[in-house]
Amino acid sequence: MASLHNRRLQFICVKSDAVFTLPSRPVPYAVLGNPVNHSLSPVMQQAAFDHSGIEARYFRIEVGEEDLPRAVDRMRQVPFGGWNCTVPNKIKMYQLCDRRSESAELFHAVNTVVNEKGHLIGHNTDGIGWSHALYDAFGKRPGELRILLLGAGGAGRAIATQAILEKCPELIIANRNPGRAQDLLSQLNAQFHSSPFSRTQLNLRSVRWQEPELEAALRETDLVVNATSAGLDPKAPPVLPARLMPGHLLVFDTLYGSACDKFRAEAQTAGARWSDGLRMLLHQGAAAFSLWTAREAPLKIMRDALESAFSASRR
Ligand code: ATR
Repeated sequence: MASLHNRRLQFICVKSDAVFTLPSRPVPYAVLGNPVNHSLSPVMQQAAFDHSGIEARYFRIEVGEEDLPRAVDRMRQVPFGGWNCTVPNKIKMYQLCDRRSESAELFHAVNTVVNEKGHLIGHNTDGIGWSHALYDAFGKRPGELRILLLGAGGAGRAIATQAILEKCPELIIANRNPGRAQDLLSQLNAQFHSSPFSRTQLNLRSVRWQEPELEAALRETDLVVNATSAGLDPKAPPVLPARLMPGHLLVFDTLYGSACDKFRAEAQTAGARWSDGLRMLLHQGAAAFSLWTAREAPLKIMRDALESAFSASRR
């Protein structure tokens, strides 16, 4: 167990049961996912804790949905101060929380847990993280932009929800499988027409994943958001070719690293302004830090830590 006190150790595999022997000091925090080895959250959050003089250790814990309840029970008791959840745990964690914030209810998923004396409170900072990232990159909020959203999975749903919350003037959803885009539209319509947000003028529609329809939608669009996982498949073509993108377009890719190389090249050829998802990781993490500590996050420290870890991982 001595190695647990080694400040450089940030990876624990829950299947090794190491989480069951973790000490309560420094206060442990973690990201729970599978795979999780690549996660840059530990570097960013540890830098924030250290800079703020908070005695805490942030770990990676490799755990999937099946083992999540057992791990969470133990983390509640240690006690952990809180944790983040990433793929595939956000929906299961939503179910395991004792209480859920408004953000968790709106997004039907939890990416941040605060452990208040054994009582688990679930939050979701993905949507606000994306909104801050957008402002960081382009100086605009979703409420000022007509948006074409590519993708209707978990990431697409989070972006669409935040765009509606911020009263985006027009939201168009395109998905390779059109049935899934329709399902997301139906869910959003049902959710927002029966909520306090019903005053929002929902301007929602979908278009087919075909060049003429995408091209027409893009002419009337200020921002395109890629929430597909296409970039993770090295054989997949870029989600949009340069010829379809007008030069005035803002392009936000929720992926980062080599997964967005092809799409970035197309956007740059078109003369569009472009951002990757590293900023989204930063801002969702900053919001999580504030929930755990009730302090403003040291954004510059977190950004520097994230960018240098990211550059090192690309070498
Ligand atoms: P996540 O939770 O990360 O959004 P997901 O729920 O598996 O992951 O969704 C992946 C999204 O990427 C879907 O919108 C998927 O489209 P389909 O519903 O048609 O599968 C989209 N996607 C994945 N690979 C793609 C590709 N090569 N081209 C276009 N869209 C792709």
